[in-house]
Amino acid sequence: MSTPRPATARPSTVITGIGELTTNDPARRGEGSDAVLGLVRDAAVVLEGRTVAWVGPAAEAPAADVQVDAGGRAVVPGFVDSHSHLVFAGDRAAEFAARMAGEPYTAGGIRTTVAATRAASDEQLTSHVARLVAEMRAQGTTSLEIKSGYGLSVADEARSLAVARQFTDDTTFLGAHVVPSGTTPEEYVDLVTGPMLAAAAPHARWIDVFCEEGAFDVDQARAILAAGADAGLRGRLHANQLTYGGGVRLAAELGLRAVDHCTFLSDDDVAALADSGTIATLLPGVEFSTRQPYPDARRLLAAGVQVALASDCNPGSCFTSSLPFCIALAVREMGMSPAEALHAATAAGAAALDRDDVGVLAPGKAADLVLLDAPSYLHLAYRPGVPLVAGVWQGGRPTL
Ligand code: NIG
Ligand code: FE
Repeated sequence: MSTPRPATARPSTVITGIGELTTNDPARRGEGSDAVLGLVRDAAVVLEGRTVAWVGPAAEAPAADVQVDAGGRAVVPGFVDSHSHLVFAGDRAAEFAARMAGEPYTAGGIRTTVAATRAASDEQLTSHVARLVAEMRAQGTTSLEIKSGYGLSVADEARSLAVARQFTDDTTFLGAHVVPSGTTPEEYVDLVTGPMLAAAAPHARWIDVFCEEGAFDVDQARAILAAGADAGLRGRLHANQLTYGGGVRLAAELGLRAVDHCTFLSDDDVAALADSGTIATLLPGVEFSTRQPYPDARRLLAAGVQVALASDCNPGSCFTSSLPFCIALAVREMGMSPAEALHAATAAGAAALDRDDVGVLAPGKAADLVLLDAPSYLHLAYRPGVPLVAGVWQGGRPTL
């Protein structure tokens, strides 16, 4: 006899009639070009509490409190967006329009957003992040990372992270985004590695540096990441976005979990990533919005580098919150197969955050999944710009 369920427990749910289920489960790895997705046809999934309890053929599905019929549609793991900058105020639509008229992207507009962010109240920042997180969820994102980086003072970086922490545990201290006006680079690195880090560390899991000409060089990045490590924060980097440089090799040398952008890569950079196992997180929405060349995903994959996809949602270089859009771009513009792109936006995004609880649909993993209004995951790239997300479960609960 089963134990009576406490009135407050979340009901178990069986989603049945799934025409095509992407599990990303290595134990279900199949044959052919989409082997990595561990597809199950005519499938069902049972959600118990916050986790997946059972995955298998619909005909064998156990009963649950709530039954949902997917009607032959596809289900995929919730997207894992491992790179976003959601804590900001204002927008830079005029800067985007100027770029589309031929101006280059320089990252100089970061200071405009810093001024707007400093002027915003905590409540304004929080409600703006809530709006963007809801926008992401409506497009299937169930896990995300959020960076600071538009405060650039001790108090504004700490409060940016405190705001971000209300929405995710994967918060990243990016005090080293650019050097704010009114200070020298040397003074600012001292501030970032000293009082700012001390104020930020209690709210952050990760530390990041924009390692680029005009932002922070390799030596500064190394010093900032070392200080972060001493404070218990794990490193990640923005590197090789606008120019060739040593950032990607630094990430590989330090064995960072992920290095993001990777647009301008030498052969040595690619070899270093392959040797270190550092994940290259590609952000194709940025190249879409800056008219820069797209990163060469095929070159990385051919060298054995693991590739993740993320949105980089921010008001300057890329103001999209949509991972389906990034998947479509990766397929059309970067030569990734639809299966590689979906895996990159789910399981590889989770790996980029060093998480093994999300991005995979298997017993014991988070019950985070997306019902598509489509018969196959292929439609994510085949039908760009179409809102295909018909349902989202996060931690076992329907949230859309
Ligand atoms: O990841 N490159 C540095 N930081 C952001 C852009 C910031 C901005 O332009 O506001 C990025 O692209
Ligand atoms: Fe970024």
